[in-house]
Amino acid sequence: MPNILVAYYSRGGNTKKMAEEIKEGIEQENVSCVIKPIAEVKIEKLLSYDGIVIGSPTYYGDMAAEVKKLLDESVKLHGQLESKVGAAFTSSKNIGGGNETTILAILKAMLVHGMIIQGNSSGDHYGPVSIGSPDERAQKQSFQLGKRVAQLVKRLS
Ligand SMILES: Cc1cc2nc3c(=O)[nH]c(=O)nc-3n(C[C@H](O)[C@H](O)[C@H](O)COP(=O)(O)O)c2cc1C
Repeated sequence: MPNILVAYYSRGGNTKKMAEEIKEGIEQENVSCVIKPIAEVKIEKLLSYDGIVIGSPTYYGDMAAEVKKLLDESVKLHGQLESKVGAAFTSSKNIGGGNETTILAILKAMLVHGMIIQGNSSGDHYGPVSIGSPDERAQKQSFQLGKRVAQLVKRLS
């Protein structure tokens, strides 16, 4: 069975709640999901996942340093994450507070790894965004992302 990692950094719990919704969506597609705080992710283990979903709070319009640290350390696997499915999500305080640039920063690193990213034509285009604690809309976007990532992983497997 395909296996997807949902890794997040969250000080206040908002990004963590999104990660939990994404996991629900993945599992509804009968795909295995491991959910972990970013500090517990072992770089070498990334090789064992078919999909990698990363969430960060928006910090100054960018990912938190803890998330960037993991991505920088992932250079050890450069070339080995090709064709895995990637996705990203964020929680910010403000609308227009740099949430989409945060998601795109994570997605850029995934593209450098040669990973496959699916956009969304009708929902949050780059990945789910919540303003503060995820409301019903953000929960739905997160759940849908989980489903879509799982569906793509199954198609590619
Ligand atoms: C260091 C720092 C920088 C932040 N920068 C931004 C920002 O640029 N834009 C914004 O909208 N919110 C910003 N925030 C607010 C957080 O993104 C927001 O509170 C988020 O929901 C926190 O997620 P968490 O509960 O998962 O930790 C910042 C918070 C901190 C601590």
